[in-house]
Amino acid sequence: MGSNLIICLIPAILVLFGLRKLRERSWGFCKNNTTLNNKVAIITGANSGIGYEVAKELASRNAEVILACRNVDLAKKAIMRIEKELQKKLKLRAMELDLASLKSIEQFVSNVQDQYPYIHILINNAGLAYPKNEIHLTENNFEMHFGVNHLGHFYLTTLLLNTLRKSAPSRIIIVSSSLHEKGEINIDSLETVAQGKNLYANSKLANIYFCKELAKRAKSTGLCTYAVCPGWVYTSLFRHSIRWYHYILVAPIAFFFMRSPKQGSQTIIYCATEPSLENQTGLLYRNCASYTSRVKFDDDTASKLWEKSEYLINSRLG
Ligand SMILES: NC(=O)c1ccc[n+]([C@@H]2O[C@H](COP(=O)([O-])OP(=O)(O)OC[C@H]3O[C@@H](n4cnc5c(N)ncnc54)[C@H](OP(=O)(O)O)[C@@H]3O)[C@@H](O)[C@H]2O)c1
Ligand SMILES: *[C@@H]1O[C@H](CO)[C@@H](O)[C@H](O)[C@H]1NC(C)=O
Ligand SMILES: *[C@@H]1O[C@H](CO)[C@@H](O)[C@H](O)[C@H]1NC(C)=O
Ligand SMILES: *[C@@H]1O[C@H](CO)[C@@H](O)[C@H](O)[C@H]1NC(C)=O
Repeated sequence: MGSNLIICLIPAILVLFGLRKLRERSWGFCKNNTTLNNKVAIITGANSGIGYEVAKELASRNAEVILACRNVDLAKKAIMRIEKELQKKLKLRAMELDLASLKSIEQFVSNVQDQYPYIHILINNAGLAYPKNEIHLTENNFEMHFGVNHLGHFYLTTLLLNTLRKSAPSRIIIVSSSLHEKGEINIDSLETVAQGKNLYANSKLANIYFCKELAKRAKSTGLCTYAVCPGWVYTSLFRHSIRWYHYILVAPIAFFFMRSPKQGSQTIIYCATEPSLENQTGLLYRNCASYTSRVKFDDDTASKLWEKSEYLINSRLG
């Protein structure tokens, strides 16, 4: 009886693992191992999750990597962890950046520009997601998802734009999400909770519009932009929404669909380093290949989002 059970169970488990392996192959990985000597990269939110893995990989390719994090101690701990894992001293730097504060963004950019004349890679990776019934605002009273995921990165990027242009060929990677397909852009209520139901998805849609508009504005300057959907990744992103029973309910699905942070970092690393992407700009990527969203992006929304973002920032700088 017991042995029958085992005889049935073993093939079932093998089949499950086989399916998982097949899925993993479809996610792709960054094959090109091109080195990044003399390159400087900034990664926001690099102390955990996907950003941590990207920082580790770029530094191991010999880039100088700035971990731009709201908690410098966590960034320093991440650096120690990376150097311990790789058994090597790398060119990693921890610098403070709170994307929920326009003042902190300005301070960060000024610190960077004092020390680094060139920035070749900017990875806008930091992000947060709150449960739908919660309202959070940034220091400057913007709705938090919009304020951090889009507007904070928008401000950071535009302040660094001259440095990035001067450093061409340079790349800006904007980490979005497949959930952007559920988002909407309401130009008149962007900064408030009135912008729609799925605030996280809205901010991730704004990320892609920003990527496209920036590509257009930086055309032929050697500065290229790439938007990335990393896939569903096991990180602490949903720490504010997750309850203990979710682990039980989601576990079977997670087994097939969830990537490790390392797997989730592959498309970002691909966009940051792959030589053949050199002149591609304004496109969306997932599974280490370009991909077409179901959303029809229109130029008008892209340019209005840019203008409104500038307007909102100026209105709060006073
Ligand atoms: N995980 C997924 O399934 C998934 C799917 C699609 C897209 N993404 C995107 O992937 C990116 C990385 O997320 P993750 O999954 O790696 O989650 P994570 O482990 O929670 O990392 C998010 C990072 O953003 C930082 N951050 C949050 N608010 C910030 C602020 N105001 N200023 C500066 N940094 C801030 C966090 O810092 P603290 O540690 O201090 O909180 C953390 O370092 C996000 O843009 C997310 O939207 C993730
Ligand atoms: C990386 O890309 C370069 C340029 O396209 C190519 O010459 C090289 O063979 C690639 N390396 C690998 C390991 O794929
Ligand atoms: C990159 O990969 C190629 C092919 O696998 C290998 O020959 C080469 O030594 C690698 N280069 C580096 C810098 O690791
Ligand atoms: C990108 O464009 C530059 C300038 O036109 C050209 O020299 C270079 O070969 C191109 N790179 C790729 C990978 O197509």
